[in-house]
Amino acid sequence: MARAGWPQRVRVVEVGTRDGFQAEPTFVPTAVKIDTINRLIEAGVRRFEVTSFVSPKAVPQLADAALVMAGIDRRPDVELTALVPNPKGAEAAAKAGVDAMVVFCSASASHNAKNVNRTIARSLEGFRDVVAIAEAAGSRVQGAIATAFGCPFEGDVATAAVVDLAKAYADLGIRHVTLGDTTGMATPPLVRERCRALRAALPESEIALHFHNTRGIGLVNVYAGLLEGIDLYESAIGGLGGCPFAPGATGNICTEDLLYLLDECGIETGIDLAAVVAVAKRIEAEIGRELPGQVMKAGPRLALRRLDEVRTACG
Ligand code: HMG
Ligand code: MG
Repeated sequence: MARAGWPQRVRVVEVGTRDGFQAEPTFVPTAVKIDTINRLIEAGVRRFEVTSFVSPKAVPQLADAALVMAGIDRRPDVELTALVPNPKGAEAAAKAGVDAMVVFCSASASHNAKNVNRTIARSLEGFRDVVAIAEAAGSRVQGAIATAFGCPFEGDVATAAVVDLAKAYADLGIRHVTLGDTTGMATPPLVRERCRALRAALPESEIALHFHNTRGIGLVNVYAGLLEGIDLYESAIGGLGGCPFAPGATGNICTEDLLYLLDECGIETGIDLAAVVAVAKRIEAEIGRELPGQVMKAGPRLALRRLDEVRTACG
């Protein structure tokens, strides 16, 4: 039973093939990206941020965005989104048939300049055309706010700056706001404060939370979000992830670890934890490095170990 006041069910958005693979030093083969998503659909995942339609010079790891989209076993109950920085990206995303385009802008000017080479105002100007392109293509638009809990170049980011950006999205008709914790600067009090401020300013906007585990409290921040009634979280399989344009950025919160937390709190996700762990292990073998995910190593809490696995202490 989920605790009273908490969501009974949480929607998990898998961002590993986007936020995760964008940060890998070597290009993850297109077939691996497609296979990862198809296997996660089998495991019950119903929401994916698949890729980004950005400049291949900026993010060569995702230069195969259209090919990945084309290789996925599409189902009506599976939502596929992609990051789109500008109208050019929107045209490509529309052609690829995304269900929703995710525009993104940082709450801090310096990270936005580093990430997309423009001012916040110029980003927003371009999103007007993105919305028109998406509408014509029959896809929705969501808005992500990077550095929503702090900026590696500027330090604290004011709640007002985040709310203003969310309002600017709402003025464009974008009623879905993802708060991105680009370099793991969120804390539980900040999460609660920002969720409350957003809800007060924009009661009709849907809020999603996107945490990175850079300082080890990603899931604690999820817990704070649950206390605020938030039922939409982004995570990456194996704990992959990181923004190449933010120094010190590390992995997203890990999907299996998030599922484990939610399962143990009695919150439904519709996703099979063991099946997701199996996919995480495949990716680990594929990319050839140890992933930060913990449940993929330890197993669930009632996974029993053999007595003869360790020596018996004596004396
Ligand atoms: P720019 O150089 O200012 O763009 O880059 P431009 O308009 O001057 O165009 C330059 C070249 O890029 C041209 O090609 C354009 O055609 C091409 P050229 O004539 O030189 O051959 N171009 C494109 N190509 C493909 N798709 C496009 C596109 N747009 C232009 N959409 C730009 C500006 C935004 C394009 C670039 O800076 C860029 O692509 N940045 C992407 C950055 C990125 O993907 N960052 C990581 C994702 S954000 C993140 O991870 C944070 C998040 O997870 C939340 C969180 O954790 O907080 C979301
Ligand atoms: Mg991110």
